[in-house]
Amino acid sequence: MNRRKFLKRTAAVAAIALLAKTASAGKWIAGTAGLPAETLKSKKMNIVVLTGSPRRNGNTNYLAEQFIKGAEENEHTVFRFNCAEHKVAGYMACNRCGMDGECVLKDDFSIVRPHLVGADMVVFVTPMYYFGFSSQLKSVIDRFYAINGRIKGAPKKTAFLMAYADTAESEAEPMLLHYRTLSRYLGWKDCGAVVAPGVWTAGSVKSTRYGDDAYRLGKSV
Ligand SMILES: Cc1cc2nc3c(=O)[nH]c(=O)nc-3n(C[C@H](O)[C@H](O)[C@H](O)COP(=O)(O)O)c2cc1C
Repeated sequence: MNRRKFLKRTAAVAAIALLAKTASAGKWIAGTAGLPAETLKSKKMNIVVLTGSPRRNGNTNYLAEQFIKGAEENEHTVFRFNCAEHKVAGYMACNRCGMDGECVLKDDFSIVRPHLVGADMVVFVTPMYYFGFSSQLKSVIDRFYAINGRIKGAPKKTAFLMAYADTAESEAEPMLLHYRTLSRYLGWKDCGAVVAPGVWTAGSVKSTRYGDDAYRLGKSV
């Protein structure tokens, strides 16, 4: 065998060995930093679900329940924070925290704060109020300021659930843009959104497919 043939054969044997090793290590998913699929699937997450509606039996709370059902079936741990049932004051711009420290406001944000810092995933759930997030959810988001340094760039996932009365798709766009811009800023991986149009009265979303969509989203994370 001449030198050229020898080198060719050696390279072929090495390539086959590498392929065999890769196959036995499990399936590989593109875009996941080379982690085997099994590893990704089996990771149990701490998920924080922030709900923004004051209507207990309302549409977005139902979407949240369905998402949580799917996520818990996958054995993730869910911490749900109903923003409208807590006292969380609006941000007051003292900047004493320096975007990463103690907040001078002493209220219920302190309940959710450690969960947000430690979460693997944060889910935003809100009705449309005048084309935006509910103020109860927005107050909590604004208070992210005091933990900005700990949550920005952290390897978290995120998702979005919303409902509104109108049926025009275009009316949901500002909120979707807000959600996507926020996740991009924080560097969190967007896992998807469920947008439920045409639901006005409390619970009317139950007769649509959006509950199933939220359940499937929860099951997919
Ligand atoms: C203060 C307020 C503002 C609202 N603004 C809008 C709106 O801009 N567009 C819309 O389609 N529906 C609007 N709605 C209707 C709600 O988005 C809709 O009823 C939604 O299903 C409520 O969700 P919930 O049941 O989870 O509270 C508004 C409702 C309220 C109470």
